[in-house]
Amino acid sequence: MRLLVCGGAGFIGSNFVRIRVRDHGDDVVVLDKLTYAGRPENLQDVEHTFVHGAIEDPEAAAEAMGKGVDAVINFAAETHVDRSIAEPDAFVKTHTQGTYVLLEEARRRGIRYVQVSTDEVYGSIEEGSFTEESPLAPSSPYSATKAGADLLVWSYFHTFGMETVICRGSNNYGPYQYPEKLIPLMILNALHADRLPVYGDGMQVRNWLYVEDFARGIGHALEHGGAGEVYNVGGPDECPNLEVVKRIVELTGADESIIEYVTDRPGHDRRYSLGSEKIRALGWEAQVRFSDGLPRTVDWYRDNAWWWEPIRSGDYRAYYERQYGKALGR
Ligand code: NAD
Ligand code: TYD
Repeated sequence: MRLLVCGGAGFIGSNFVRIRVRDHGDDVVVLDKLTYAGRPENLQDVEHTFVHGAIEDPEAAAEAMGKGVDAVINFAAETHVDRSIAEPDAFVKTHTQGTYVLLEEARRRGIRYVQVSTDEVYGSIEEGSFTEESPLAPSSPYSATKAGADLLVWSYFHTFGMETVICRGSNNYGPYQYPEKLIPLMILNALHADRLPVYGDGMQVRNWLYVEDFARGIGHALEHGGAGEVYNVGGPDECPNLEVVKRIVELTGADESIIEYVTDRPGHDRRYSLGSEKIRALGWEAQVRFSDGLPRTVDWYRDNAWWWEPIRSGDYRAYYERQYGKALGR
């Protein structure tokens, strides 16, 4: 297949491109705006055609889709909840206007469309797991705008009969994840003996999914998913944040005294949990348990300083000071 991967220079997008090119022999066009999270080096070892542009720019969308693609997979997004609380503007633009522009262009050309979405559109759940029929109840500007995009995608199936599929993943972790997110932030801080800022009581629970499992799930939905369908892609293990952080302390050989409880995130969702029976019925299964994926991820960060050193010494510093400086008394 020839695929257009929007947001392919980011964490999950680049892992998806690598798997599609290497394991499936696909031809890939990437459309990416290269925000702070989009990094060309994430794709330096994979053959692809690159179009630099924003998904909300109709000319960029037309140029990328004009390269004769069979399907569009949209990963492009602003993805960090804390940033959506501080500055929601880009989240609204990219998720609503951007998704709309891609849908219009794909509809005009009759191209199959896969939207990459998140479990966060369902909100928080104390017990049990969300199914694809659970109501949408997003609670942050990030998840609310992602839910808006999902509804727009569904409307293009319902109204225009467009071939759309939505994949909702749980929390991903693995190589190439920008260190604003819990796991890479804690790994890099622990490797530098910096403090580990745990929000609130640290008992919030996330459903951890190794990035290659999500990438394979999206590929599965692309190839076998029904038009207009939604597929949850959840990880095999749930874990409270504090336990994740303690395991990272152990794996990096750091000292537990660097763990520091800081003010909780406003509107913090307590627990996410996804039921994935529907995509399992299509033949997908998560292959990597958290107990294997976490040490593998720690090793990747330890061995790939070339990747994170420029990030930690660049704009990320200013972000880190804004987000954590006061809480950590710096
Ligand atoms: P990321 O932040 O690492 O990468 C996002 C990519 O999108 C970057 O390359 C960035 O440059 C690009 N981008 C942002 N705005 C753009 C725009 N307007 N036009 C073109 N490109 C733009 O994100 P990620 O963690 O790889 O997430 C990818 C997708 O998966 C997102 O849609 C996200 O909502 C979803 N998702 C993420 C997780 C997770 O745990 N990270 C879980 C479930 C779903
Ligand atoms: P995050 O990686 O931001 O993903 P999401 O908010 O999309 O689930 O955060 C994962 C969990 O870790 C979440 O409960 C917030 C918590 N967290 C911390 O306790 N400290 C931190 O510095 C970060 C970034 C997250």
